Amino acid sequence: MLVASQSALRHFFYPVCPVNKLTDGPVEFTLLNQSIVLWLDQNNQPAAAENRCCHRWSKLTKGKVIDGAIHCPYHGWAFANTGECIKIPQHPERPIPSNYCIKSYKCQSRYDYVWVALEDPIMPIPEIPEFESNEYRVIHLENRAWQCSSLTALENIFDTAHHHFVHQHLGDKVNPVPIPPTIIEKTPYGMFFKSDMYNYGNKLQYKAWNIRDKEIVLKREFHWYMPFLVKMTLSLPNNLKNVTLLSFTPMTNSSLQWINIVMRNDTEENVKASDVIQLGMTISYEDQDILENVLPDVPLNIHEQCHMESDRPSILIRKRFTALLSEFGDIEQRTDCIPNKLDEQISNKIKHKLKVF
Ligand code: FES
Ligand SMILES: [Fe+2]
Repeated sequence: MLVASQSALRHFFYPVCPVNKLTDGPVEFTLLNQSIVLWLDQNNQPAAAENRCCHRWSKLTKGKVIDGAIHCPYHGWAFANTGECIKIPQHPERPIPSNYCIKSYKCQSRYDYVWVALEDPIMPIPEIPEFESNEYRVIHLENRAWQCSSLTALENIFDTAHHHFVHQHLGDKVNPVPIPPTIIEKTPYGMFFKSDMYNYGNKLQYKAWNIRDKEIVLKREFHWYMPFLVKMTLSLPNNLKNVTLLSFTPMTNSSLQWINIVMRNDTEENVKASDVIQLGMTISYEDQDILENVLPDVPLNIHEQCHMESDRPSILIRKRFTALLSEFGDIEQRTDCIPNKLDEQISNKIKHKLKVF
């Protein structure tokens, strides 16, 4: 599936950039192949619109925000948060035709981020109570671009088989056989996944998790909010809860904005935020290095690839995307080079192995 080419995926909110970035002027972001301009409107609330002036298609992000309206850099036309053109400096006396406008997008501020939906969203922005709770502190851990598919990165979060091979600072360094998950279930918003993990401690973890145990079992719970948002809760034996909100915001078919917000029920005196960031970034760069070398066109048809037991969450995810696309009458978009396309015989063998599904 080429994520940015699927019209069904335009019907969701995505976090795109920190709200405080807009105080310096308009910001450009590419969401699902669409270049958008973000700015603060007359009420100091984020606004989003297509990043092309309706006059000569100049990029509006090169312009200025004046009194909450975005002003085009080329001839100075101004647009309100509704997309309506409210000023043509060359004709101050003439009424402005109503079709002189740009497309505006639904935009909200939540969890310190601007969230944008390109079409009417079918789900609200998920509630994350830990973000608002006094018992938790918030650490904005990362916000950077990766050159891989959002679907690849999403599936990787539920992939219990890669830690042993990819991560120096996470998981079981002795045994590559992961603990089977206790729950994989479909929810109205996506999926709930519960999976414990053996973990061998190291210096970065001792600092970031405030532990000294060489071997622990990490209790992990995941909520997947379709299409590319995950809330992951790690519970440690010392009662620390490390809740992470992860977004794999799709920019293009092969690039995403990786947003990582951590909420923890401890304090800066217990653990420095810089130590939490150091562990988190070490792990995510290890993932990024592998995922940027995976082909971005992840097939929804599970028979095009080979699978193992730990891929069960991925298979559920692909089924849910298949159902979503069909709900919108959206056809799965693909590249024309699909490596190792399986013939009917192999495909049937895999079907047999996957009969648990
Ligand atoms: S291109 Fe924007 S005002 Fe002319
Ligand atoms: Fe990983």
